[in-house]
Amino acid sequence: MNAFSTTTLSVLCAVLASVFSHYSNPKTCLSGLSTTSPTCLEESETDCTGDQCMIVSQYIYIYGKEYRAILKDCADEALCGAFGSATQSDVLFRGFVNCCKEKNCNTGHFYIPEDDRTPNGVICPDCFMDGTLEECVSNKTRACTGSEKKCFDYRGRVQLPVFSDCYSCLSKTSTTCDKVIVIPCPQKGCMIISQYVYINGAEYYSILKGCAISQFCGALGSATQDKVKVRGYVKCCPGELCNNGSFYIPEDDPTPNGLVCPNCFINGTLKECVSTKKINCTGIEDRCFEYRGTDKLPDDSVGNYSFKGCMNSFACKYNFNASIAVEEIQGDAMNWTQTIRDISRNIAKGSVCLSLEDIMTKKNWLCSCGTLL
Ligand SMILES: *[C@@H]1O[C@H](CO)[C@@H](O)[C@H](O)[C@H]1NC(C)=O
Ligand SMILES: *[C@@H]1O[C@H](CO)[C@@H](O)[C@H](O)[C@H]1NC(C)=O
Ligand SMILES: *[C@@H]1O[C@H](CO)[C@@H](O)[C@H](O)[C@H]1NC(C)=O
Ligand SMILES: *[C@@H]1O[C@H](CO)[C@@H](O)[C@H](O)[C@H]1NC(C)=O
Ligand SMILES: *[C@@H]1O[C@H](CO)[C@@H](O)[C@H](O)[C@H]1NC(C)=O
Ligand SMILES: *[C@@H]1O[C@H](CO)[C@@H](O)[C@H](O)[C@H]1NC(C)=O
Ligand SMILES: *[C@@H]1O[C@H](CO)[C@@H](O)[C@H](O)[C@H]1NC(C)=O
Repeated sequence: MNAFSTTTLSVLCAVLASVFSHYSNPKTCLSGLSTTSPTCLEESETDCTGDQCMIVSQYIYIYGKEYRAILKDCADEALCGAFGSATQSDVLFRGFVNCCKEKNCNTGHFYIPEDDRTPNGVICPDCFMDGTLEECVSNKTRACTGSEKKCFDYRGRVQLPVFSDCYSCLSKTSTTCDKVIVIPCPQKGCMIISQYVYINGAEYYSILKGCAISQFCGALGSATQDKVKVRGYVKCCPGELCNNGSFYIPEDDPTPNGLVCPNCFINGTLKECVSTKKINCTGIEDRCFEYRGTDKLPDDSVGNYSFKGCMNSFACKYNFNASIAVEEIQGDAMNWTQTIRDISRNIAKGSVCLSLEDIMTKKNWLCSCGTLL
């Protein structure tokens, strides 16, 4: 038989089989998924076109932690009986696809056949690196066992269901948490956000512990005006339950950096505050800002505020997204100047020249942080 007729025949058979199964005995399988545990929390019935159901069980060991996942669904028949196995000193992967032929027959549990630990004579390189896509190099080797008869070199990005456990808690009004719980995190690392807010005479210290949010890690946010002072620091750490530390914000650098900004504050209105008062920016506060909005303070009071002062790029970029003490109910305006790198020549990033006059009259201000350092 030539290739053409083989294909034609098999297509015809498949069509006939599916028509036949649709008209005679519609097939259903149980369907469910858990990426973090060996049991499906919910299972439902799903219609299938093939005539088998399956349970896919998967086991991963990495960083000393074990992960089990299960999928129940209509069978992908090409995978039935497949057993996948990969081993390295720090990483272990096993997967098994168990199929069955009755309606809703995939009622079974997580199952992966026992490892065969008999050395099979194959010797492979044995190395592991994380945080890079470079090839790992090592003179360590490993004697392969069972069905693992090939060496592999894998480099790629992997999203594990749960990477580490972290402490989790929030206190908007103190430097310590009352209730601390342990939560599973979808990525590596934990964090502590420490925040200090001073607003018109009232001071709040706040702390949040939780899973690391990588774009916040290491960030030091700072904004200053006569009646408003905001400081925040995000400390991340890589290990299991590593965020057991305390409230911490690095000391301010009080050295004037040459940048001068408008300096005003009004409470109870969303109108722009206007004043000829100026403030000398210090330390890392490398731009001017104006803010108007309705905010909820940690004491649950809601008020309208309008002020202008100095701030740094982190406070600009994430403004209220990394805020734990103050919640923005409604933002009205949040504008800032470009980074002033060399105030003596008034040269700003992107070669836009800002004179003090420009700054005070808000010419050349930005409404977006997209071009920040
Ligand atoms: C493996 O490499 C290390 C460091 O490069 C070296 O100190 C060691 O002697 C090597 N071991 C063998 C068995 O070659
Ligand atoms: C805002 O002003 C009102 C009345 O003018 C006052 O009661 C309140 O304490 C002020 N709040 C802040 C945070 O300054
Ligand atoms: C945090 O945990 C580490 C490692 O378990 C321990 O060495 C350290 O003393 C702990 N720190 C605090 C503040 O509890
Ligand atoms: C700002 O700095 C200038 C020059 O160093 C100084 O004359 C002025 O008094 C300072 N202003 C304030 C409000 O500290
Ligand atoms: C804030 O200002 C807006 C607009 O003027 C007003 O509708 C709102 O009631 C004010 N909110 C507070 C808490 O004063
Ligand atoms: C702040 O968070 C919101 C909602 O998650 C998101 O849409 C927005 O892009 C974030 N803004 C910044 C500046 O990260
Ligand atoms: C300030 O921001 C508001 C909205 O965020 C915008 O409408 C306004 O034009 C901005 N003003 C300046 C001077 O950039």
